[in-house]
Amino acid sequence: MNFQTVLDDIAEALAPEAGREGEVARYIPALARVDARRFGIALRTREGEEAAAGDGRTPFSIQSISKLFTLTLAMRHLPEAALWERIGREPSGNPFNSLVQLESEHGKPRNPFINAGAIAVADRIVSLYGGDAKGSLAGFMSHLAGEPVDFDREVAASEASTGFRNVALANFMKSFGKLDHDVGAVLDLYFHQCALSMSCLQLARAAGYLCRDGVHPFDVGENVVTERQARRINALMLTCGTYDAAGDFAFRIGLPCKSGVGGGIVAVVPDRLTLAVWSPALDATGNSLLGMKALEMFAARTGLSVF
Ligand code: DON
Repeated sequence: MNFQTVLDDIAEALAPEAGREGEVARYIPALARVDARRFGIALRTREGEEAAAGDGRTPFSIQSISKLFTLTLAMRHLPEAALWERIGREPSGNPFNSLVQLESEHGKPRNPFINAGAIAVADRIVSLYGGDAKGSLAGFMSHLAGEPVDFDREVAASEASTGFRNVALANFMKSFGKLDHDVGAVLDLYFHQCALSMSCLQLARAAGYLCRDGVHPFDVGENVVTERQARRINALMLTCGTYDAAGDFAFRIGLPCKSGVGGGIVAVVPDRLTLAVWSPALDATGNSLLGMKALEMFAARTGLSVF
């Protein structure tokens, strides 16, 4: 299959629609300024073949896609019990920043991909690296992407100055005894992970271990996670990676996906390839409208799906 042609065709078909429908995330000022007409797509196969189209090489704010990588980092270094005693593995059926479920479920987040769950994962990462947590995360991302990856400091500051709900979620979990560390230190990591700046191609590379049974995307003779862990991360992406739209994503696309309010989505075709799309205008669930359409076109055109 000529993947470059597939991506070129998708970009050509969708770029004229970019920014016509949906809304760029407005609740974070630094994200509100992004041009809604950007559209990028890129992939990397298990064997290392790459393709990119449109703005596929332009960095953007990966936002909640980072939740996939912080979970991976935590799974790499923590015993299973230490991670999953604090975090569930069920779809939430609620918006990504909802407080409601957290109260009735005594401060235990439904899954690692909603904000509360990612904050609980960030707490675990602070346990691992202390004051060096941010640097360790940036180092891990660079190691996966095969080139330097950094935070957009302006976005991180914007997250911190408007992150009232995340402050509420973290304090709420702390009140239930479900965070070990200082709320400020945990949120500093969380706000920075959301502000990681990467292109579709870098994301497709960095997530490569998910289509290679956990093996590092660049054959550096290392497993990022075990085969079993990679399978489990894919399962969580399929069931929980796109919030209260996870059912619709499975129905329309049929691939494990993780989205972010920057308009990016990473998708995995296990054993074949990883794919990333970027279009900043979002639907009401906080997922990229055109990104979802692009993935649907890709699955239809290539016949690639886990089902
Ligand atoms: O926590 C927030 O509000 C954001 N910085 C990240 C949320 C996000 O990307 C949710 N995803 N769709």
